[in-house]
Amino acid sequence: MSLANGRHYLAIPGPSVMPDRVLQAMHRPAPNIYTGALVEMTATIVADLKKVARTRQEVAIYIANGHGVWEAALCNTMSRGDTVLILGTGRFCQGWGEIARGLGIQTEVVDFGFRAAADLDRVAAVLRGDTGHRIKAVMAVQVDTASSVKNDIRGLRRVLDEAGHPALLFSDNIACLAVDEFHMDDWGVDVMVTGSQKGLMVPPGLGFVFFGPKADAARERANCVTPYWDWRPRANPALYYQHFCGTAPTHHLYGLRESLDMILHEEGLEAVWHRHSLLARAIWAAFETWGQGTEIALNIPDPAARSHAVTTVRFPGDAGTRLRHWLEQQAGITLGIPLGAPEAEAPGIFRVGHMGHVNAHMVLGVLASIQAGMTALGITHGSGGLDAATDVIAAG
Ligand SMILES: Cc1ncc(COP(=O)(O)O)c(C=O)c1O
Repeated sequence: MSLANGRHYLAIPGPSVMPDRVLQAMHRPAPNIYTGALVEMTATIVADLKKVARTRQEVAIYIANGHGVWEAALCNTMSRGDTVLILGTGRFCQGWGEIARGLGIQTEVVDFGFRAAADLDRVAAVLRGDTGHRIKAVMAVQVDTASSVKNDIRGLRRVLDEAGHPALLFSDNIACLAVDEFHMDDWGVDVMVTGSQKGLMVPPGLGFVFFGPKADAARERANCVTPYWDWRPRANPALYYQHFCGTAPTHHLYGLRESLDMILHEEGLEAVWHRHSLLARAIWAAFETWGQGTEIALNIPDPAARSHAVTTVRFPGDAGTRLRHWLEQQAGITLGIPLGAPEAEAPGIFRVGHMGHVNAHMVLGVLASIQAGMTALGITHGSGGLDAATDVIAAG
């Protein structure tokens, strides 16, 4: 017998749960793509995207996933043979580096392992050592969705400034925009990339590149710019179609308008950050309690370096995989598979996505189901994990 029938919960770290309102906003006949409501709505979307990123700079919208905007960011700022610094803290910054190498850009990779944020002192040492300013950009992910680490983007700007290094600062916020606190302008980020499918709660398919004046100056020299990926006409189109270098992603835009209303004009961005912080702390409390006297552990030991979007957890042996299968078959919950972890550890690892349209009962349902699964499978765990989580929720 299975208890999985009923509404399935996809608790992977993106694509995230899409609000019915977003899906309903997309359910409409094709709009006119030359004049009228869509054109007017796009201007409001651009303004609101900048509010979510806390920036007054430019944004270019692409019909693309995260890989697309990774490439767009590089194409607009780099020339073949340039060097970028990749800060490896899981899987995804390394992936950005692979795109760079594919474009003929050289990468210098500093790997901080799977369980910690980029160490700012080590980054500072690399930058101080680069006296010829060969490194053209420092590339970081704010949140690495594989390890669930959160990097200190503001700290990276400080390190660049203290070293007097002119490299651009790139931040990948694909996992965590509108989840973890972020201030593009105040933190001195030159290029930020994100996508529609996680904190923004819209189906995959829209990618965004935010860029400031220093990055746009690099665009003058870059020889990787191509007509399709060029951010200038997209950010400042003379004609509407130039926003997207062709037909607009009509229905995604309606979905995005709805989600931006929910984030900015109903809940409020700071409340959204707070909700994610509280729900994440409830999840951490449960796993930390289950871990007492056992091998169950959060992948990121330092609470300050944990994301509020996703939590990677570690179980002994293959218990993580067995538990993940049990939850899917018996409880109607799909958790995230291990990504980027050392091969020997992967069967013990899974990820809980908690970004976007997620509330207390959803998180508590996942945690309670995990506890049921551990009991059913005979996985040793400390007692009181659910109480620890509900205490966090109750304290608000
Ligand atoms: C932090 C981060 N960067 C980049 C990507 C790649 O995005 P996509 O799969 O949409 O190409 C992901 C996808 O999960 C991600 O989490």
